[in-house]
Amino acid sequence: MQQFALTMAEETAQDWWEIEALFDLCFAPGRSALSSYRLRDGVPPISPLCLTARDENGVLAGAVRNWPVRVGGHMAVLLGPIAVHPTRQGEGVAAILMRACLERATQHGWERVMLVGDAPYYSRFGFEKLEGVEMPPPTNPDRVLGLGDWAGVTGEVTKASDCN
Ligand SMILES: CC(C)(COP(=O)(O)OP(=O)(O)OC[C@H]1O[C@@H](n2cnc3c(N)ncnc32)[C@H](O)[C@@H]1OP(=O)(O)O)[C@@H](O)C(=O)NCCC(=O)NCCS
Repeated sequence: MQQFALTMAEETAQDWWEIEALFDLCFAPGRSALSSYRLRDGVPPISPLCLTARDENGVLAGAVRNWPVRVGGHMAVLLGPIAVHPTRQGEGVAAILMRACLERATQHGWERVMLVGDAPYYSRFGFEKLEGVEMPPPTNPDRVLGLGDWAGVTGEVTKASDCN
């Protein structure tokens, strides 16, 4: 991993559009049509788990946001989106953001985290394929991964606000 000065901070309202622009750059067009976005619509993100990573010049290198969801009546963190600017990829920025938000999730009492992503990447943080946890279609079940206490937690993933 290349060593460089990186400042991590909780996302503020001023960061919003810069992060949106980063996500637009890093993800395929139409990212907001993904089923995971339906679980986020109208639900506030988990602020302490929404982080920016900026370089020594204040340029945004990467960002991660997290939302609460329900799975069979249990609360869970839906991790992501996470993205790193193409000029900073491969330097460990995502790993720093991932470890920070997983640590913060534990500190804030979250017992389980899930995401939809590539197992070959997220397995390095301990994520494993979740059995019996159903994201809204169309989602490839092999990409539904979890970390933490998932024993006995199965069912459809629903919006956190649907059960409030
Ligand atoms: C995925 C992403 C966040 C990783 O950011 P990053 O800062 O480059 O990641 P890191 O530096 O911590 O890790 C890089 C390593 O992960 C690997 N990697 C990155 N994406 C991967 C993937 N989808 N599957 C498997 N390995 C992957 C790289 O090959 C590299 O491997 P190495 O450590 O053996 O060299 C970044 O590539 C990105 O923003 N991609 C576009 C948006 C995206 O796909 N986000 C994830 C949605 S699930």
